[in-house]
Amino acid sequence: MKVMPTTFDAKAATWDEEPRRRAMAMDIVAAIVQRIPLTTGQRVLDVGCGTGLVGLPLAVVTKSVLGVDLSEGMVAKFKAKVQTAHQSGVTAEVRDLVSAPLLAGSIDVAVSAMAFHHIPDVDAMLRSIAGCVAPGGWVAIADLECEDGSFHDEPVPHLGFDPAGFLSNMQRAGFEAVSQERVHVMQKPPGGRSYPIFLAVARKL
Ligand SMILES: C[S@@+](CC[C@H](N)C(=O)[O-])C[C@H]1O[C@@H](n2cnc3c(N)ncnc32)[C@H](O)[C@@H]1O
Repeated sequence: MKVMPTTFDAKAATWDEEPRRRAMAMDIVAAIVQRIPLTTGQRVLDVGCGTGLVGLPLAVVTKSVLGVDLSEGMVAKFKAKVQTAHQSGVTAEVRDLVSAPLLAGSIDVAVSAMAFHHIPDVDAMLRSIAGCVAPGGWVAIADLECEDGSFHDEPVPHLGFDPAGFLSNMQRAGFEAVSQERVHVMQKPPGGRSYPIFLAVARKL
C-alpha cells in the first residue's frame, strides 16, 4: 500500500531509545497478558504497531503477530527487529485498516498502544477491527486518558479519551465490554507532568 510519508518515519530509528516509551509498553504488555488468555497459535493484530514495542513481546507467546502501521519507517524498523530475533510468523505491513480491511475472522486478538489518538475516525477503525476479529476473539486498546493538549508538540486528532466512553465506542462497533483500567502513568518530561494511560478490553460477540 502506498502512503504519504508521516512524521513517524523520522522517529522510527530512535523510537525504542526513549526509556519512558519502553516502560509504558512493558506495563501495557503486562496488563494485556493478565487480562487475555494468550496461547500459542493465536493470530494477533497490532494496530499502529510502530517498532513493535507491544506486539513483539506478545509474539513470544502467540508466535503469530501482524503489525499494521501507516509509517513505512516504523514498519521497516519492526521488520528489522523481527529478522534479528528470528521470529518467524511475525511480520508488519503498511496498511490503513479503514480503507483496506483484513479478512473477516482472520484475527484472534487485536491490540493497539498509543495509536488511536492519531486516528481521525475512531469508530471506523473500531468497526474495521471488529470486522476481522473472529467471534469470541479479543481486543485490547491502550491510549491516553483525556489530556490538555500538552502531550504532543504537534496537533493530533484526539486529546486522549474518556476510558468509559471509549469502551462504549468499542461496544457500538460490535464488541462486548470486559474492562477498562488505568495501567500506566507516563511522566513527561521525567519528573514532570503525569499522563495516565488506560487499557480497554472487550470481546467480539
Ligand atoms: C505513538 S506511536 C505508537 C507506536 C507503538 N504502538 C508503540 O507503543 O510504541 C503511534 C503509531 O500509530 C501509527 N498510526 C497513526 N495512524 C494510524 C492508522 N490510521 N493506522 C495505523 N497506524 C497508524 C503511527 O504511524 C505510529 O507508528
